[in-house]
Amino acid sequence: KLPIKIAPSILSADFAKLGEEIKDVEVGGADYIHVDVMDGHFVPNITIGPLIVGAIRPMTELPLDVHLMIENPDVYIPEFVKQGADIVTVHQEVCPHLHRTIYLIKEHGAKAGVVLNPATPISAIQHIIEDIDMVLLMTVNPGFGGQAFIHNVVPKIRELRKQLDERGLTQVEIEVDGGINPETAKLVIEAGANVLVAGNAIYNQQDRKQAIAAIRG
Ligand code: DX5
Ligand code: ZN
Repeated sequence: KLPIKIAPSILSADFAKLGEEIKDVEVGGADYIHVDVMDGHFVPNITIGPLIVGAIRPMTELPLDVHLMIENPDVYIPEFVKQGADIVTVHQEVCPHLHRTIYLIKEHGAKAGVVLNPATPISAIQHIIEDIDMVLLMTVNPGFGGQAFIHNVVPKIRELRKQLDERGLTQVEIEVDGGINPETAKLVIEAGANVLVAGNAIYNQQDRKQAIAAIRG
């Protein structure tokens, strides 16, 4: 069984003191730093580019888990990895040549993952699942922090973990993102997720160490 990992999303951090905000969760027991990249096209919000990834890279020893919510990710993947992304996830919904995109990430030296929106079925990744390190199942519609957890994704997590186990792909991480708090964390862990992203539930708390521990359960 894979260890439970907590990935605070810096989208909910104070951007005026991003370095401190990252150190705070690292000291507080975080496993990854989750970086939400949005382009104003695939999702209705604009956030972080490769420049910020490069700026935060020296601030932490933790792997940077870069979630690309952008169209044409192939154009930007080399620069995100060069700036320090350790894990790059791309949305199935914007990758007509998903196999090519996955290998582009790997060739540049990062771990590769595929993200599925709540409405995208897991059958969409059936034929590339052996090529990836991680599947990120969105538990909100991507675009903003602080949205409500979509409960219908829980059976999808369970089904994916079952399929991975049946195929002997026990090392593939299932990450969940959106509306994770100590209550919803229990549901997703029970269903088979092992990497939990949390923005508001960590950065809106004074004590980040306690917030991380509460999500880990
Ligand atoms: C949503 C982002 C999430 C978001 C999570 O589009 O991908 O990573 O920051 O924030 P919370 O945990 O507040 O839902
Ligand atoms: Zn995210």
